[in-house]
Amino acid sequence: MSYRRKHKQAYFLGGIVSLVIVLVLLLPSSRGFLKNGPMLPGHEELECSSCHKEEQGSFRQQIQANIQYLLNNRKNAVSVGLRAVANSECIECHERPNDRHPVYRFREPKYLEARKNIKADKCSACHSEHKRKRMSVAINYCMHCHDDLILKEDPVDVSHQQLIKDKNWSSCLGCHDYHGNHDMKTEVKLKNAIPLPDLKNYFERGSHPYPGKIITKAKKYEKK
Ligand code: HEC
Ligand code: HEC
Ligand code: HEC
Ligand code: HEC
Ligand code: HEC
Repeated sequence: MSYRRKHKQAYFLGGIVSLVIVLVLLLPSSRGFLKNGPMLPGHEELECSSCHKEEQGSFRQQIQANIQYLLNNRKNAVSVGLRAVANSECIECHERPNDRHPVYRFREPKYLEARKNIKADKCSACHSEHKRKRMSVAINYCMHCHDDLILKEDPVDVSHQQLIKDKNWSSCLGCHDYHGNHDMKTEVKLKNAIPLPDLKNYFERGSHPYPGKIITKAKKYEKK
């Protein structure tokens, strides 16, 4: 048997094994078994199926497509059962017309380099579910896109240019929320910025540091 054939079979078997694991985990009675970490704050009562959706086509069609792939009659294998969680699942409840960093913007080719460092075109790159931490990105990640930032008239007492020269990338989230979804005034004095320990605490699972109300709220789901 060729190496390629073996490789494909291993891929297929691996797919079946992980399908069985996922299907078992998704049974309502298995909720308690999900020991790899709690849901994000606010998601505790979401149904698993609000994010884990079925792949297109019937189960039989999916298996057939994969058999055709094994027989070299088809270019790609398909997911069996559940598909990978995509932005669309999140946006269904979190559509925000006021988002200042909408994920779709970063699909443009000019963000290729930034995408290599940080997948800013994917919600789950920064908000991974089932992890102990709230955020799955480093606090200083603004550096991947704003390193050439200069404000014509900088209102801040320590200018943006200076902050960047000092590599003070951890200061940014102290004055700016990423999505621009808080009704707040942007600080102009560095000493009034949200202190780094509060940001770090928030990134772990601590309380929200931003003043001001949420502008576009998440769509409510039916509590069961
Ligand atoms: C808010 C969205 C969301 C909800 C609700 C959710 N998950 Fe997930 N889950 C994710 C994301 C994102 C991943 C990362 C893998 C991916 O993209 O498919 C993931 C991964 C997993 C994995 C690892 C397998 C894989 O495909 O990588 C399992 C198992 C899993 N979830 C089970 C559950 C169960 C059980 C529930 C209900 C208690 C649940 N999930 C609810 C978003 C969610
Ligand atoms: C069925 C609706 C629904 C879906 C689907 C959903 N969310 Fe949520 N999400 C909520 C609700 C409700 C809250 C609680 C906050 C609120 O009420 O505004 C929340 C809160 C959050 C928070 C804030 C958590 C905090 O720290 O306060 C983040 C981040 C988040 N969701 C990201 C995501 C991502 C990423 C996905 C896709 C993988 C997703 N959500 C899918 C409804 C949803
Ligand atoms: C590059 C990293 C990154 C990406 C990608 C990202 N976020 Fe966020 N998100 C953050 C950070 C940082 C915060 C905390 C600061 C803030 O509130 O803006 C946050 C806060 C949130 C909050 C809580 C505050 C609010 O606005 O209600 C929600 C909900 C949320 N994100 C949902 C999403 C969804 C849905 C997506 C995909 C459409 C997404 N995020 C993509 C970094 C990211
Ligand atoms: C993947 C690239 C990327 C990352 C990472 C990124 N930004 Fe941006 N940011 C942009 C782009 C693109 C714009 C829009 C610029 C424009 O419209 O001229 C922008 C705009 C902004 C604006 C101005 C928004 C407005 O409406 O005037 C602020 C403030 C900002 N970013 C702060 C941040 C902060 C703070 C971080 C880190 C937490 C960050 N950005 C991370 C690409 C990025
Ligand atoms: C002390 C508070 C403070 C800090 C720290 C700070 N900013 Fe700002 N930033 C402001 C204010 C004030 C403005 C003026 C516009 C406004 O009011 O939003 C601004 C404007 C911006 C803009 C919009 C520029 C434009 O052309 O309109 C971007 C992008 C930005 N900041 C990114 C960053 C990044 C990246 C960092 C981290 C290196 C950072 N900021 C740190 C307060 C701050």
